[in-house]
Amino acid sequence: MRVWASANQKGGVGKTTTVACLGGLLAESGRRTLLVDLDPHGSLTGYLGHDPEGGEGGVYALFQAAAEGRVGDAAAGVVATGADGLWLLPARTALATLDRQFGTREGMGLVIARALAGLTARFDFVLIDCPPMLGLLMVNALAACERVLVPVQTEYLALQGLDRMMRTLAMVTRARPQPLPALIVPTLFDRRTRASPESLRRLRARYPQQTWRSVIPVDTRFREATRAGLPPSAAYPQARGVQAYRELLADLLGPGETREPDAAGATGTDPANQSSESRGCPPAGPVRQDSGAAAAAAGREPNTGRRA
Ligand SMILES: Nc1ncnc2c1ncn2[C@@H]1O[C@H](COP(=O)(O)OP(=O)(O)O)[C@@H](O)[C@H]1O
Ligand SMILES: [Mg+2]
Repeated sequence: MRVWASANQKGGVGKTTTVACLGGLLAESGRRTLLVDLDPHGSLTGYLGHDPEGGEGGVYALFQAAAEGRVGDAAAGVVATGADGLWLLPARTALATLDRQFGTREGMGLVIARALAGLTARFDFVLIDCPPMLGLLMVNALAACERVLVPVQTEYLALQGLDRMMRTLAMVTRARPQPLPALIVPTLFDRRTRASPESLRRLRARYPQQTWRSVIPVDTRFREATRAGLPPSAAYPQARGVQAYRELLADLLGPGETREPDAAGATGTDPANQSSESRGCPPAGPVRQDSGAAAAAAGREPNTGRRA
């Protein structure tokens, strides 16, 4: 099971869209994929048709359990989405109180990492959507993931916020046993403007190693996909923006792992056997050859930086 996070201390840069789109693409390629919503605003949760106001389950329950000295049952909080092979661990608006409740308590930074450790046989991929601030939730995400994507809107002030985020990542990396590769993903790129190409140039000049080789263009379909309640890749598979995310995913996975969508739906579960309402967490199953251990053993992630 591989865990990636989408993080930036700035809002509105495409963090949630990145998670929804890459998640949809991973699921349609046959990888059992879990999206974890760590933003108290619950935009990913709402987007995928669940109510972030709905009580205290989901991610919040994991922190409650940890506060009582237990490891929460992450599988119990997982819900289905409208896309096959794609599940969600929803956010709760109650998450907004976490820093006040537990911010300084020992061990609370590893709640998500420990909970996800219980899901390794059920999912091939986990994508974590972060809130736009440095706090307990982002600390948890960065401790749980093996790679972080940093979506950055290509606009004039992009670098200001980004420098702050990169300092945060450097700080977190020092505290980790393994390095945390970061890939800056230029988003909302509009070639007709002056701001987009110029800020992209500056981005590349400042972070030459860490900036993705291509860009995610402005594409109004992304906003429309949120209305459809489906990942952009499912709602508008041919959209320009989706094509760009497809390219990003191919770079992240490396040449050996890129496959066409799996028509047979090799998601580890047979959706035909389950009504869409009752589909909870998928059962434990063999980890796909191409995910996790195999890639780690091969020690490669081309185009996108180093790995441990
Ligand atoms: N490449 C894009 N082109 C056009 N609109 C986009 C793009 N990426 C994101 N958006 C839209 O911009 C808004 C903010 O994106 P979102 O992913 O929610 O950002 P964040 O999670 O960083 O706050 C949303 O309305 C989303 O639909
Ligand atoms: Mg968001």
